[in-house]
Amino acid sequence: MNMERVILQLFFVIPVMIVGFAIFKPFNGIIRHTATLDIQRILYSLLLSSGLLTIITLSSIGSGLTSPFMIPFSVLIIHFILCVFLMTWTRLLVRLIYQNLRLYDKKEVRVMIMGAGELGQVSLTALERSANPNYKVIGFIDDNQQLQGKTKAGIPICSLQKAFGSIISSQQVDEIILAVNRGGMSDEKVRNLMDLCISRKIVIKEIPPVNDWLTGGLNARQLRHMNIEDLLGRDVIAFDSEGIRERLKESVILVTGGAGSIGSELVRQLLMFDARKVVIVDQAESALYDLQHELLAKGYKSNRFVAMVGDVTNFFRMVQLFERYHPHLVFNAAAYKHVPLMEENPFEAIRVNVGGTQLLANLSIKYGVKKFVMISTDKAVNPTNVMGASKRICEMYIQSQSQLEGIKTHFITTRFGNVLGSNGSVVPLFSKQIVAGGPVTLTHRDITRYFMTIPEACQLVLEAGFMGSGGEIFVFDMGKPVKIYDLAVKMITLAGLEPGRDIEIRETGLRPGEKLYEELLATKENTLPTYHKKILIGKTRECNPVLIHHEVLALLNLLKSATDDQLVSAMKKLVPEFISQNSTFERLDQTISEENGKEINPADYFDFKPAPVYR
Ligand SMILES: NC(=O)c1ccc[n+]([C@@H]2O[C@H](COP(=O)([O-])OP(=O)(O)OC[C@H]3O[C@@H](n4cnc5c(N)ncnc54)[C@H](O)[C@@H]3O)[C@@H](O)[C@H]2O)c1
Repeated sequence: MNMERVILQLFFVIPVMIVGFAIFKPFNGIIRHTATLDIQRILYSLLLSSGLLTIITLSSIGSGLTSPFMIPFSVLIIHFILCVFLMTWTRLLVRLIYQNLRLYDKKEVRVMIMGAGELGQVSLTALERSANPNYKVIGFIDDNQQLQGKTKAGIPICSLQKAFGSIISSQQVDEIILAVNRGGMSDEKVRNLMDLCISRKIVIKEIPPVNDWLTGGLNARQLRHMNIEDLLGRDVIAFDSEGIRERLKESVILVTGGAGSIGSELVRQLLMFDARKVVIVDQAESALYDLQHELLAKGYKSNRFVAMVGDVTNFFRMVQLFERYHPHLVFNAAAYKHVPLMEENPFEAIRVNVGGTQLLANLSIKYGVKKFVMISTDKAVNPTNVMGASKRICEMYIQSQSQLEGIKTHFITTRFGNVLGSNGSVVPLFSKQIVAGGPVTLTHRDITRYFMTIPEACQLVLEAGFMGSGGEIFVFDMGKPVKIYDLAVKMITLAGLEPGRDIEIRETGLRPGEKLYEELLATKENTLPTYHKKILIGKTRECNPVLIHHEVLALLNLLKSATDDQLVSAMKKLVPEFISQNSTFERLDQTISEENGKEINPADYFDFKPAPVYR
């Protein structure tokens, strides 16, 4: 070999190579993360520099020049192939070694992907890219029979029956990833799948909506645990959305407690239904601020809603509000709702729940509100605690207003059980406890509750609100009761943990005023049907409106001086079915039953007919 010639050639080969590398920068990518793009860059830079060398050689031949610019074509080809091979394979080798070292010692998570469509493929790519956890995809599950038995990217596709019949146990599958468009899978199917996973102690996760993916696509860390709302939610209810939209278009609507769980969802739905203006009132400034920002971020113009910090018991502030906005509809969701807290603070239960409702109802009559919808609770049925009794008094007051002559406002009450995930309720509490490593605390192993989701409850409130013509108590069909112990077990399992082993479930004893079983709201005996199968009209005791009006006033007056015992006794007189349970106020029931020997007759108290009281 002519060394002199080789050295001379290096003086132009090296700069030419540098030009190719400087333009395409194949050295920029991190070697251990080498991807297709890095290989492309290597190819482009080598093609460019080899092309330039070929041109130089060809022009040397053409111009009759000989050495040193002439490189044999065979050398150029071998140089190109060697460079491609060495540059790509060294990178891929480093990546392989790095990945194996990274996965060494890491527990393998064996998964099956539900859905062999496009989302399934995206999930597969995301899982394969992930090292922590180290996912191994065992198979796809798909109910499309034409796909079953085939493979996708070398991975077998099978039916749900086959997966749960044999594969999951034989292959020791740890997780199922739901990679389907939720619109294309019924809620019932999702619930069945979740139940199957819970019974087999398999974690079930789902991919987030496409909008939430990272810019580079789906990342395995974005997969999220399915939540209990998915399991306990019920099928979407038939809903006269067009009718409601039509009626809301021209309305100004006041939502009190609008920053709370129910109030804020009502606000969202009202805005979604194109209500002209929603006035949101709440005393919780920060929560109201958050809602205001959420609505602006969703693109609602600031002229569509007003966020007003205010106390519903403050006469002057409420008069200011009614004067300024003249609402057509009022949804009253402002309340104190925590049973144990209200048991210790009857003063506040009466001041806020009863006082607030009474003031808003009176102002609604005065300012010609068309409909007033009160949000009540199942705890108002045969109340065993101060909170429930305060809501029952609100119901009685609202109903009595409807019976007064000449009243144009339609007063409607909606009653329902617990909503999933509301502020301070059992689901967020259990979630926090699970994240903290336990224990998950419940008051009694046998305690049961009825549940519906917040959006479902609010849909029914809207529907019932428009259905009512005044004086009705609408009761929602809450489905079957849920055992709180089972809820805890399911939430722990859904989080990928084992109840008892990873997270302890601890009983703490019933709290003051707490019932083991909530009353069934809707039975054939205590309700009448409406055109909507989930909305029923509750049959309640007839109340004398004038008596109620004066007794509520008297109760509110008591706030000026009475002790807690005197306040609760007054509530018990107003609501004879209020029998305290597991509470310090149980002793009052004895005294009252002794006094109750004589029947109260309104005629003994008042000598006039029902008439408008506030005008
Ligand atoms: N959460 C449930 O499971 C459930 C079920 C059935 C009925 N309800 C009833 O729905 C109503 C609302 O419940 P929630 O879960 O939305 O409660 P929440 O605590 O989330 O909301 C209540 C809102 O009312 C506001 N508020 C309280 N006092 C006020 C006052 N004086 N002035 C202005 N705002 C005031 C609070 O700041 C809060 O934002 C309650 O009456 C409750 O009994 C709730």
